Amino acid sequence: MLCIGIHLRDMAEDWQEAALPCITASEIARAQRFRQPLDATRHLVGRALVRALLARELGTAMLQAEFTANPWGKPALPNCGIEFSISHSGMAVWVALCRGTPVGIDIELENSETDPHALSDILHPAERAELLALPLQEAHAAFFRCWTRKEAIVKVLGEGLSKPLSGFRVHTGSRSGDWLIEAPSIPGAGWSTADLAAAPGQYASVAAIAPGLTVDCFHLG
Ligand SMILES: CC(C)(COP(=O)(O)OP(=O)(O)OC[C@H]1O[C@@H](n2cnc3c(N)ncnc32)[C@H](O)[C@@H]1OP(=O)(O)O)[C@@H](O)C(=O)NCCC(=O)NCCS
Repeated sequence: MLCIGIHLRDMAEDWQEAALPCITASEIARAQRFRQPLDATRHLVGRALVRALLARELGTAMLQAEFTANPWGKPALPNCGIEFSISHSGMAVWVALCRGTPVGIDIELENSETDPHALSDILHPAERAELLALPLQEAHAAFFRCWTRKEAIVKVLGEGLSKPLSGFRVHTGSRSGDWLIEAPSIPGAGWSTADLAAAPGQYASVAAIAPGLTVDCFHLG
């Protein structure tokens, strides 16, 4: 799995300009509908980064190839043999690419107003019990770890929240990888899961349906 994180910092306009050769007219039209300029920039930068990486991996100049979307909105470039996933939060944009198998990435900014105990009832019962057993500050970090890990799995599956988050279980403790305890039921599937080194106050996780994959992780910006 190849994972790349960009921190836009105070360079959002520069990143957006750099993205332009690798985005399509439909993506520009979509970006123009976002109310917040930062949301538009993150959308364009994520898509452009994926397209540039796909072109490099495939050895072709496909800088304007249109992505498809499944019924839940998961983007893809069909028949190219490489799957990808995009996530943004705050000034961070992350992408993951994986050959031949679905991949999901999620980045979240820690939000001090999130109440981990109150939100824990949407999680797996064992995850919920672990969070409720922790003092609030520790539960807060555990919740964000758990959340990004579960979202990475949700993004692999590509069906949004159509399946309950309580249907699979992740570790809530700090560990760099192998955090999937009870996988969603996909016959014969093995999984690779990892947390990614993100900036302080950020949590990032990646998952793919194939066992034993290594993660190459790079930061830009
Ligand atoms: C699709 C979904 C997973 C996006 O998650 P998000 O955290 O809101 O946003 P992110 O920035 O991480 O991801 C957005 C990107 O995901 C991709 N995406 C959209 N729909 C997707 C889907 N069904 N599956 C996988 N990826 C999807 C897109 O590339 C999108 O970015 P783009 O439109 O700029 O290309 C979201 O719709 C969802 O269902 N979230 C689950 C919410 C939740 O309550 N999770 C709790 C976990 S404990």
